[in-house]
Amino acid sequence: MKIITVLGARPQFIKAGSVSREIAKHKEIQEIIVHTGQHYDTNMSDIFFDEMCIPKPDYFLGIGGKSHGSMTGQMIEKIEEILLNEKPDWVIVYGDTNSTLAGAIAASKLHIKIAHVEAGLRSFNMKMPEEINRILTDRVSNILFCPTDAAMQNLSNEGFNHFACRTVQSGDVMQDGAIFYKQLAKKPNIEIDDDFVLCTIHRAENTDNELHLQNIMQALDEIAKETQIILPLHPRTRKMIENLHLTIHNVTIIEPVGYLEMVWLIDHCSLVMTDSGGLQKEAFFFKKHCVTLREETEWVELLEHEFNILAGSDTNKILSCVQTMRAKNSNFDVNLYGNGNASEAIIQEMMK
Ligand code: UD1
Ligand code: UDP
Repeated sequence: MKIITVLGARPQFIKAGSVSREIAKHKEIQEIIVHTGQHYDTNMSDIFFDEMCIPKPDYFLGIGGKSHGSMTGQMIEKIEEILLNEKPDWVIVYGDTNSTLAGAIAASKLHIKIAHVEAGLRSFNMKMPEEINRILTDRVSNILFCPTDAAMQNLSNEGFNHFACRTVQSGDVMQDGAIFYKQLAKKPNIEIDDDFVLCTIHRAENTDNELHLQNIMQALDEIAKETQIILPLHPRTRKMIENLHLTIHNVTIIEPVGYLEMVWLIDHCSLVMTDSGGLQKEAFFFKKHCVTLREETEWVELLEHEFNILAGSDTNKILSCVQTMRAKNSNFDVNLYGNGNASEAIIQEMMK
């Protein structure tokens, strides 16, 4: 069986890493990796391949830093050439980035089977580029691997039971990764207080909205007067902060870190604040509460269990949500994302 994996952005490296480890156990499967180049800085891309022993990409397309249409269009063209040449049995795509959509469109037009890992998630906010990417990718996929019951339910509500595809509750490949990489975690080489908050911000709705970004940074700077905030900063957010000349006095801003350092930070922090999708779950994997700097989340089960709270981008709401979550003493012993064997379930299903 020949599989082409299409990826290009940071969260996909982490997800694909777990599945690639599983594929490597099967001599009868050949995996060919196509990296679109959507993320290209060393600490947004190469570091994950090196540290997490993901096989080096067989093809690197170098298509990053462009508008959505231009990026996605150029990716489709290049991926199509590769698919025609390689003639794989399957294309695997992950999550909801422009690289995901490009892989799915190219494969579907050539009638090559598509496996979508992290299918069925919805924010119900069509302004998010990710919501558009995931809906379109789901619709043309042949097997949809859902990480949660809520994702299965979303697909059922949208009528997927009537489409020519399989929907499978596989569990979450990020849970697999968290378990595997915990043993390899590394402390970053910076001064870190015993009690610190870990924060990331990169979503378009926050970085591209001056008021949202200003409000969030103001809240962080206020909290950081009392408790250290470590903010590994996405290049997109750094550029916007510089363009707006925002002054931040108290937050410990660092370059994006590799996954092994990230796992250490999640494991040792006292609270997570983020607009990331993946980090909301990772907070839970490491038994940490999370304040989500968005108006909605795809990971609704975390809200239901009160491990997570939506704070949006209002300064006062963020401050009060942080207080609420810091006062909580939750029991995290509940299984929401599987037992860490999602990758195995995915490969078994694809081999059927
Ligand atoms: C992308 C995904 C988002 C995911 C995020 C993970 C889409 C639509 N969005 O958002 O779902 O959560 O990745 O991190 O696919 N940049 C660099 N160096 C890099 C990468 C990006 O400088 O290595 C800067 C460039 O200015 C670029 C901007 O960041 O134009 C945005 O990058 P892009 O890949 O378009 O979107 P992300 O915000 O990273
Ligand atoms: N991440 C990382 N280093 C960083 C910031 C994030 O390794 O400096 C990890 C994070 O823990 C998560 C993954 O990158 O596993 C993807 O997160 P990101 O926020 O980039 O994307 P999203 O999940 O929102 O699509």
